[in-house]
Amino acid sequence: MGLRVLLLGDGGREHALAWSINKSDLLDELYIAPGNPGTDSVGTNVPLSLSDFSEIQEFIEDKKIDLTVVGPEDPLVGGIADFLEEKDHKVFGPSKQAAQLEGSKSFANHFMIKRGIPTAGYAVFKRHEFDKVIDYVRKEESFPVVLKADGLAGGKGVFICEEESEVLETLETLKESPKLSDAADTLVVEEFLEGEEASVFAICDGETAKIIHNAQDHKRIGEGDTGPNTGGMGAYCPAPVMTDRLLEQVEREIVLPTLTGMILDDTPYKGILYLGLMITEEGPKVVEYNCRFGDPECQPIVQALNSDLLKHMWAAVNQNLSQEEIELDNQYHSCVVMSSHGYPGEYEKGKKIEGLEDVSDEALVFHAGTALNDDGDLITDGGRVLSVVCSGEDLEQSLKTTYEQIERIKFENAYYRSDIGYKGLEHLNRDLESS
Ligand code: AMP
Ligand code: GLY
Repeated sequence: MGLRVLLLGDGGREHALAWSINKSDLLDELYIAPGNPGTDSVGTNVPLSLSDFSEIQEFIEDKKIDLTVVGPEDPLVGGIADFLEEKDHKVFGPSKQAAQLEGSKSFANHFMIKRGIPTAGYAVFKRHEFDKVIDYVRKEESFPVVLKADGLAGGKGVFICEEESEVLETLETLKESPKLSDAADTLVVEEFLEGEEASVFAICDGETAKIIHNAQDHKRIGEGDTGPNTGGMGAYCPAPVMTDRLLEQVEREIVLPTLTGMILDDTPYKGILYLGLMITEEGPKVVEYNCRFGDPECQPIVQALNSDLLKHMWAAVNQNLSQEEIELDNQYHSCVVMSSHGYPGEYEKGKKIEGLEDVSDEALVFHAGTALNDDGDLITDGGRVLSVVCSGEDLEQSLKTTYEQIERIKFENAYYRSDIGYKGLEHLNRDLESS
């Protein structure tokens, strides 16, 4: 008997997860809620609201769903796993308390210090405590300094301040920002970590964690990593900076102590553990935890995965992960995101998307902000519209193919960065020069 799966979410990450789950021999039926036009081609979209847990429960019971996979962080931090598990439904994703690793920066910082996990030095303040923040920053005498909204802020809650006046400006902005009002009620001031960033993704069943893969992403909208932060404009895997030795160190010093610490705190961690790392001169340190796959990092990772993702997820919810073997191809995979004009600010919508039929079968095109109009044409309907993923023998080749394919897709005022992967290429060049 196959598994009946409900996947929650509607972005590029969820299209990638749906594509991967749909390949599984274990699958009987896949539903995606609410999904997007891309997910509808690998499963069945259902118009459920991710904030209405009771509606989701009714659907699960009506369709006899065996496993619910949660894509984004909001429902996890909101407690969807606890809600459904209380009704005896299996959920791939952490409990509300375990998801606090992403949901509260101060929770994550306290946890890491308590468990001896390498991270930045920090202090926690209330938003109105301007004087205390300034006193702290003066005492530390070290710029830049990082100010973070404690709660979920959709990538908009981190401010790197070069001097004291910028700290004050940021505090003023946070005080007045209606968007960040809840998230920034508590603030974390962090030591600025220097180094190269990389992400590591582990699948966890509460007791066992297995690293799936590592990647690097580009969060800024502009070439050369400039301009405002976005959800992510591109990603590639593996990250050239992540040597086998570093990966072992990350497993030993970060992944395993995280899993053990969560058990000791009575909040065992199940689901995807996303480690945002800074590879500093003193070794890898955690910049952030997330309680889900990265978007767009998930897109190249599913292409790299040779083993069965649904089987791994099913093993994780049944505390059986120690038996699983994660298998990757030994290729590089690159992903470039196409976005709407204006993103990450106010962006255009309703532009007709053309050229998808000209994209080679070897490329994967994952939808995010797309929709069908009344005539059945595919149109843009979000900031990040779609992403293209291709593989190659090396990073350069995978990027070259991705760009060749993305050029075939057109919509008015479409934007994508032309320099995705440059950090990885620079790293490889440095390695070559020093060898
Ligand atoms: P976060 O939302 O915590 O991932 O932060 C977003 C981005 O801000 C990270 O990807 C880093 O580039 C940067 N960042 C956050 N915290 C630090 C830190 N302590 N030191 C240096 N950069 C940081
Ligand atoms: N790509 C960054 C994130 O998913 O948080």
